[in-house]
Parts: sequence; C-alpha cells; structure tokens
Amino acid sequence: MSLDNKDVERFQSDKSVILSDDEIKSIHFWISQMRQYRFRSIKEKIKKAKNTLKLKYNVIGSGVNRIVYDLNNGYIVKIAISNLGLKSNETEFDIYTHCPQEIKRYLCPMKEFGHGWIIMKKMKAKVPWQIIEITKLVDLQVKFVSYGILPLDLRMANVALSDENEIAVVDYGHFIRGLNSPHFRWFD
Ligand SMILES: Nc1ncnc2c1ncn2[C@@H]1O[C@H](COP(=O)(O)OP(=O)(O)OP(=O)(O)O)[C@@H](O)[C@H]1O
Ligand SMILES: [Mg+2]
Repeated sequence: MSLDNKDVERFQSDKSVILSDDEIKSIHFWISQMRQYRFRSIKEKIKKAKNTLKLKYNVIGSGVNRIVYDLNNGYIVKIAISNLGLKSNETEFDIYTHCPQEIKRYLCPMKEFGHGWIIMKKMKAKVPWQIIEITKLVDLQVKFVSYGILPLDLRMANVALSDENEIAVVDYGHFIRGLNSPHFRWFD
C-alpha cells in the first residue's frame, strides 16, 4: 500500500471512512480512562474496555494489549487496552508504511490508523498445523531480518491466513525496524 496525501491527512486528523465520529469519540474516551485499570487482570481490562466502548461489533480476539472487533466488512479494528497497546498500534502503522514491498506481503494489510485504534484486513485467525509449521515461522523470521526488521514476538498466535491461504503476521506491534540503518552498524 502506498499512502497518498489524503491518507496521510486522514491519519493525522484521526478520521476514518469506516468508523463513525461517535465510535472514534468512544475509543478516545476509553483511551483516556484505561490508565486507571492498568493493575487489573487482562480479563477485567477487556471487560472494562467492552463496557466503556459500547461498540456494536463482536469481539473476535484479544491479547495482553489490545481488544479486536470484527467490523463485518472484511476488516477488523484493534483498540489499545494498555500503553503498550497504544505503542503496538503505532509500531504497526510505522512498520507497514515503511517496510520494503518484498516483505509487505507477509504483513496483514493495514487500512486506517488513529489515536488508540488501527484497522486491518480480517484474516482467518486460526492457522491449521498442516499448513503452517514451525519451520515456516523460522523462514519468515529470517526473511524479516534480511530486510532489516527484527520480528519480535513472531509466534503461532500472531500469524493468520489470507483469503489466498498465504501466511501473514497479524500482530507486528513488537517488530523493530531499521536494523540496516547506520545506528545498528557496530563494525564498519
Ligand atoms: N487481522 C486480524 N484478523 C483476524 N483476527 C485477528 C486479526 N488481528 C488480530 N486478530 C485476533 O486477535 C488476537 C489479538 O490480536 P493481537 O495479537 O494483535 O493483540 P495483542 O494484544 O497485541 O497481542 P499480544 O498479547 O501478543 O501483545 C490475535 O491473536 C488474533 O486471534
Ligand atoms: Mg498478539
């Protein structure tokens, strides 16, 4: 995906063509509240998030840092439930918009991004063992590293299949890019 000026404007203004203004307001309200629940269990945080957000969509997944809703149009929205979740959304936006084309095909496509939320393509969440094996994950790890990206937290729960049954990473919120930048060149 290459971003045109309109996309950039939308990212900066926190506007969405998928979510309504009220839904975005509701996300912002949750983000302003979530800090008070930082010492609660994940289960409690998810419950609080759901009750505060009051979105009309079904939850299709959650992790330690984000709650994921099915937008019923082929896309999902991930909403932060912790500061690390906020950071993960920012990292995914950054990685997706800056990574080389050759490895973009291994990342779940990102559609929109704003404060506390990120919209991605909906993937088939559960990867059957016969299709993806550990060796494929290792191959994928090597591929990312060869393009200067450190794929931290690349594991089964964070990969899924596209409609074409291609393996793709749905959670790249802990990836680190720029390994091929001068900052990481220790020996010259
Ligand atoms: N694009 C997607 N399509 C379908 N399901 C998804 C998608 N993205 C995430 N999910 C589901 O939601 C779950 C949580 O998403 P994700 O792993 O991004 O959250 P997280 O809180 O960042 O995770 P972690 O606990 O690893 O930090 C995933 O394990 C997956 O089941
Ligand atoms: Mg995850």
